[in-house]
Amino acid sequence: MKPKIFITRKIPKRIVTQIEEVCEVEMWEEEDTPIPREVLEKKVEDIEGLFCLLTESIDEELLNKAKKLKIVSNMAVGYNNIDVGAAKERGITVTNTPGVLTETTADLTFALLMATSRRIVEASDYLRDGKWETWSPMQLTGQDVYGATLGIIGMGRIGQSVAKRAKGFDMNILYYNQSRKTEIEDRLGVRYVEMDQLLQESDFVVIMTPYTPETENLIAKRELAFMKESAILINTARGGIVDEEALYHALKNNEIWAAGLDVFETEPISQENPLLTLPNVVTVPHIGSASIKTRLKMAELAAENLINGVTDKKPAHVVV
Ligand code: DGY
Repeated sequence: MKPKIFITRKIPKRIVTQIEEVCEVEMWEEEDTPIPREVLEKKVEDIEGLFCLLTESIDEELLNKAKKLKIVSNMAVGYNNIDVGAAKERGITVTNTPGVLTETTADLTFALLMATSRRIVEASDYLRDGKWETWSPMQLTGQDVYGATLGIIGMGRIGQSVAKRAKGFDMNILYYNQSRKTEIEDRLGVRYVEMDQLLQESDFVVIMTPYTPETENLIAKRELAFMKESAILINTARGGIVDEEALYHALKNNEIWAAGLDVFETEPISQENPLLTLPNVVTVPHIGSASIKTRLKMAELAAENLINGVTDKKPAHVVV
């Protein structure tokens, strides 16, 4: 008998077919609507494998209902949506999809850096709103990227790929990481500094660290106060790493210059969120890994992890 698995969102047919060769598959068929919690609670009772997204909270309460579950395969590199401790206690493997989204996420990070520094969205709106009446010397002037100082908080795969892009712009690159990575310093031409120094010296602060209890609100009022008035904050990691209220005040009061945000404390972001009222904020809806090729690779990798997990083979990317 094939092991039963459940997929929490519609994924491409080709990948479903691949899973079906080994498993009995059921899938939430909606593309843009997350599975209701009560439906997921029912589905997990009877399955051995769960293919899920970062939109599902795989918490202790849910895992308690999943008596036969062997594996939770998350189609994301981040796994803060999963209570990995509770999964481990129950002998449930958790997997993620690192590696395949590194360059795509680094591209988006750099795109936000360019868009905020050169006020691309604001300038586009200015033109479309019919405000462009003449060319003038200081109109819509921004900050230079070329030759500026970039501070990367979290020097994992994506941080390193952002550093490679920054080299092409002759940027001076600082980084802070929980543990210093001397082996990459010469290769990438990056310099390790303590976090406060990074915040004080950087023209761009890029957050690339995982979201954990230790990194929650890592960037709050105190840290924002260290940043230059001309500095730009970019977050493509997780919203909870930045205290959004403190960020709003820093931006509103011109204590920092701009922010580029792909991720938010609560997603989807409420239309009432005051950050959306600020012209010096560029926001996109958590699209860091959203290229066609990369999203397909993530789904394929999550499928492979899942198949290995339900057939008692070791998946390639085990978190716990
Ligand atoms: C991840 O993988 O963690 C991203 O946030 C979504 O691609």
